[in-house]
Amino acid sequence: KILILDFGSQYTQLIGRRVRELGVYCEIWAYDNDIETIRSFKPKGIILSGGPSTVTEQHTPRPAAEIFDMGIPILGICYGLQCIAAMLGGDVSSSDKREYGHAEVNVCGSNPLIVETSQNVWMSHGDKVTALPPGFAVIAESANAPLCAIADESRNFYGVQFHPEVTHSEFGEQILSRFAHKICGCGKNWSASNIIQDCIESARAQVGTDHVILGLSGGVDSSVVAALLHEAIGEQLTCIFVDNGLLRKNEGDQVMETFAENMGVKVIRVDAEQRFLDELAGESDPEAKRKIIGRVFVEIFEEESKKIDDAKWLAQGTIYPDVIESAASKTGKAQVIKSHHNVGGLPEGMELKLLEPLRELFKDEVRRIGLELGLPAKMIHRHPFPGPGLGVRILGEVKKQYADVLREADAIFMDELYASGWYEKTSQAFAVFLPVKSVGVVGDNRSYDYVVALRAVETIDFMTATWAHIPYDILARISNRIINEVRGISRVTYDISGKPPATIEWE
Ligand code: XMP
Repeated sequence: KILILDFGSQYTQLIGRRVRELGVYCEIWAYDNDIETIRSFKPKGIILSGGPSTVTEQHTPRPAAEIFDMGIPILGICYGLQCIAAMLGGDVSSSDKREYGHAEVNVCGSNPLIVETSQNVWMSHGDKVTALPPGFAVIAESANAPLCAIADESRNFYGVQFHPEVTHSEFGEQILSRFAHKICGCGKNWSASNIIQDCIESARAQVGTDHVILGLSGGVDSSVVAALLHEAIGEQLTCIFVDNGLLRKNEGDQVMETFAENMGVKVIRVDAEQRFLDELAGESDPEAKRKIIGRVFVEIFEEESKKIDDAKWLAQGTIYPDVIESAASKTGKAQVIKSHHNVGGLPEGMELKLLEPLRELFKDEVRRIGLELGLPAKMIHRHPFPGPGLGVRILGEVKKQYADVLREADAIFMDELYASGWYEKTSQAFAVFLPVKSVGVVGDNRSYDYVVALRAVETIDFMTATWAHIPYDILARISNRIINEVRGISRVTYDISGKPPATIEWE
């Protein structure tokens, strides 16, 4: 396994994903872990990530110096390279020419890391290495950074100024593969079926004969936990599915069909629509609505779980990015933008032990094992859906009539996106209900009905997003269908706002 020390780069998680895609288990830790902790992980190699700092100032982030005495290979990427250079006796200086974007890199001589003589890579740096540390040689150069990649092959220390982890870097995958497989000697043993086997064994070992409850939402993470634990502990698992009346069209039935009917998972469906609507009545503030929905969910979940006598564990669909993000928010290493986004949250005061079988997995690994466990591809590749559901897609006060209209409009939008191949091209798409009335003509009659807005975005990380440029003829068909087929809607608009400044959701 490989240890990645994080210096706060926006790409650190990508390094982790790439290494795992190569079949090598790795973990991402904060750069300032002490040497004993690092040694106890027994890594076969270490990768130092990029980061926003500059080594040219005093008191900037450095890893424990003893990592260079561990006798294992080390690869520094961008800031990581500069750390290696600065710590081992080379020189780094700030340059006024920032290099950002594509660059051509040429290999000098032969080395085990970079083989392709010329390649197009992704750069993002201001500082650069200006003098080699003793023992190092230049292995690749670019126009802007003559010391673009360096190596001390006798000690297996490597550094690259560019970012092999981003897909814009032509042979990035090969570089990471050579580092992980050849230089560190890691085998390819991190595959979907191995991951499942691992998760199953450790879940069994953890819970023994105890009973486990799980809040099933129908989202990817909780669905995969349900399928996994069903394999691992079968009858010892009970899922609680709270239907809050703010789900998409047929969603509740689909969840029951997939899990209860097809897989034989024990699922308690709680029909709580009226209770949520009653609690939401009269409230139009978005944050207040979120709080109400979160609170009522926890109340219902607690009531239901008390009915399950011998439950000792609460399973949750926490995944690795959540773990990294919350660790980063504690140490302040990476910028944290999302805070309200964890659905439901752990009901406080519940005396249950926490079981998080996906805690070490990235989203794409979760998807892969979900498919391998037999969950429907459509469910696994579904766009994210916020915990408060349609509650934040009906602007202002939530009413059942609005939710029903919105469900129909949204279903038509999805239908057409699937049919045109645009569902996969967008990261998230949905309809929003606007409680304002607008005039239309239907046949010879004047209509005076509500408006829906369509939102479709493309994004990698949901922190920034661009609106999807869906072709006009597809938008036209969607709009026609919604106005003709959904009673209560007289006008459809398309949202052309980017994030920032607009958020993805309207509330
Ligand atoms: P925004 O609207 O902040 O959304 O640009 C970014 C991503 O987060 C989702 N989102 C939520 N998810 N509870 C959730 O579980 C929430 O309250 C919530 N608000 C936004 C949103 O759907 C998008 O994927």
